[in-house]
Amino acid sequence: MADKRSPVGVFDSGVGGIGTLAALRRELPKERFLFYGDTANAPYGTKTREACMACIDHVMQRLLAQDVKAVVIACNTASAVAAAELRARCELPIVAIEPALKPAYELRRDGTILVLATPMTLQLEKFRALYERYGEGAVPLPCPGLMELVEQEAHEQARRYLTELFSPYDLNRVDAVVLGCTHYVFLRPILRELLPDTVSVLDGNQGTARQLRRVLTARGLLADGVGSVMLETSGDPAKVIPVMERLLVRAEKELQ
Ligand code: DGL
Repeated sequence: MADKRSPVGVFDSGVGGIGTLAALRRELPKERFLFYGDTANAPYGTKTREACMACIDHVMQRLLAQDVKAVVIACNTASAVAAAELRARCELPIVAIEPALKPAYELRRDGTILVLATPMTLQLEKFRALYERYGEGAVPLPCPGLMELVEQEAHEQARRYLTELFSPYDLNRVDAVVLGCTHYVFLRPILRELLPDTVSVLDGNQGTARQLRRVLTARGLLADGVGSVMLETSGDPAKVIPVMERLLVRAEKELQ
């Protein structure tokens, strides 16, 4: 039976959720985190909903077998596909990331908000409902293939991809870019080069970390021991774990 000393499970289709993990660690340094990247089954965002749900079920089984006390879905695609179903099915708290459209709406002057996410995230009801409320001036931009460039650390190709993606827009009339896929957070340095300084680049990581604190507090599950991180992947650990470790160091440095 999970208790406050049990780990928090965090998962993504790959390494993107490592940025979320860094924000979680910053907010809750005394927690033990177990991060699972489902690299062997990535990407999720261009699969069918059913295929994606099957992958998520498998990941959940792995996390539950390790007696986690809560699960953070550090993947916008998996959140859109599965958050409601997992909450209905599981007793433990499920915290789900979502594109930071509300913060973008709140800071919007009268410019455009560009929302970058996977095709799946942008298609499903979760995003549609968010868009209905906070979508004024927002343009959803599906980015198939972009997460793979983050996984491969293919910076030059990512730069070309983003340059092409932004080419139809007058970037001086853009108020914010929403990173609606956790992988894209690692493209921030490239985005900062391509975008005017006046454009805010927003992600959902801090909001997700604050939400985890709220739910653990409400259930009396906040840890008070020594924090730690364990990294797991369905991919080749010899290849993937070093990338995760590198990205975690980088993300933690950027949050300092
Ligand atoms: N990191 C993911 C997200 O936040 C998913 C990318 C993918 O697997 O397509 O949407």
